[in-house]
Amino acid sequence: DKAGHKHFMAKEIAEQPQVIGNAVKHYFGDSGQTISLPDGGIDFTGVDRLVMVACGTAYYACLTAKYWFEQIARLPVEVDVASEFRYREPPVTDRTVAVFVSQSGETADTLAALRYCRDKADRIVSVVNVAESSIARESDLALPILAGTEIGVASTKAFSCQLTVLLTLALEAGRQRGTLDEDRYESLVAALRGLPAVLGRALDNNAAAEELSLQIAEAQDILFLGRGLMYPLALEGALKMKEISYIHAEAYASGELKHGPIALIDKHVPVVVMAPRDALFDKTVSNMQEVMARGGKVLLISDLAGIEAAQDGVWRSIEMPSVDPLLTPILYALPAQLLAYHTAVAKGTDVDQPRNLAKSVTVE
Ligand code: F6R
Repeated sequence: DKAGHKHFMAKEIAEQPQVIGNAVKHYFGDSGQTISLPDGGIDFTGVDRLVMVACGTAYYACLTAKYWFEQIARLPVEVDVASEFRYREPPVTDRTVAVFVSQSGETADTLAALRYCRDKADRIVSVVNVAESSIARESDLALPILAGTEIGVASTKAFSCQLTVLLTLALEAGRQRGTLDEDRYESLVAALRGLPAVLGRALDNNAAAEELSLQIAEAQDILFLGRGLMYPLALEGALKMKEISYIHAEAYASGELKHGPIALIDKHVPVVVMAPRDALFDKTVSNMQEVMARGGKVLLISDLAGIEAAQDGVWRSIEMPSVDPLLTPILYALPAQLLAYHTAVAKGTDVDQPRNLAKSVTVE
């Protein structure tokens, strides 16, 4: 049942305020400040690193979480795609927490990576949508993301719910390790509780994304740029775009632009710049200006302050609500999804069942 939407993907994008609200309530309760985890939880004080392993969109959720765990909990994090991790035989010690992220819980490479860590890691934690899945069953601790059934092959609400649960875990790690002062912790929990309302406002950009997509649909190539927390999100935006619109899309860390990819820029290449006005904003803007100086067509996704400061010469902009900088990946996932969705609709592709793709990849 598409609940009045044209595609499951549109429905699943629109459900995000609600499912994220459910996830926050599940972990923090109606008004609590600390989270309760099943099965003995995780002791983040006795470990010296995390390894996080996943595929595709779930891998980008892990890349985002690396920034969170390192910043919030001062815990080193190694992130890898499961198909590489499992054959590399990397050292994993009993001072490592191993985290596996999977919507389906059945991805063959992720499951194999989990089994590789089984008798080596301190604890096997999974972050899953399907609670009865193989990955959930074989973990010491399985944390649900509570996104509800996701039918569209391109992951949307599962991604933002994965991010929500991973940020929650990073906050818990920071609290346990004493790296996050109490006021900051409380303000972040409050920001998480306020997120559904903010996400609802971000969805107001639906019509703007739809209108823009008519022009983006003409492109042969699209670039996505971001720095810091926006870099993994740029990767996710490019993946979403290519898998459903079949337009070639690439993402780069903004600072890498001048090391090669800037050679691709001309007036036919839309460049999507994701840049909330955070501590790295000015750096990204200077990369964006390098793109514009070469005729690149910039779509700036930022908040009001960012757009006011940097809109000179940009092709178009999408205005996002402002939130705490640590929460921006969850919020900025929405315009990335909306752009991909409307571009695919404009191109007339099979949005919910893109060619060559399966929802659950149970063979390697
Ligand atoms: C992209 C997408 C895939 C999955 C990947 C992992 O939109 O859906 O990249 O994220 O196949 O799947 P799970 O999360 O089920 O392990």
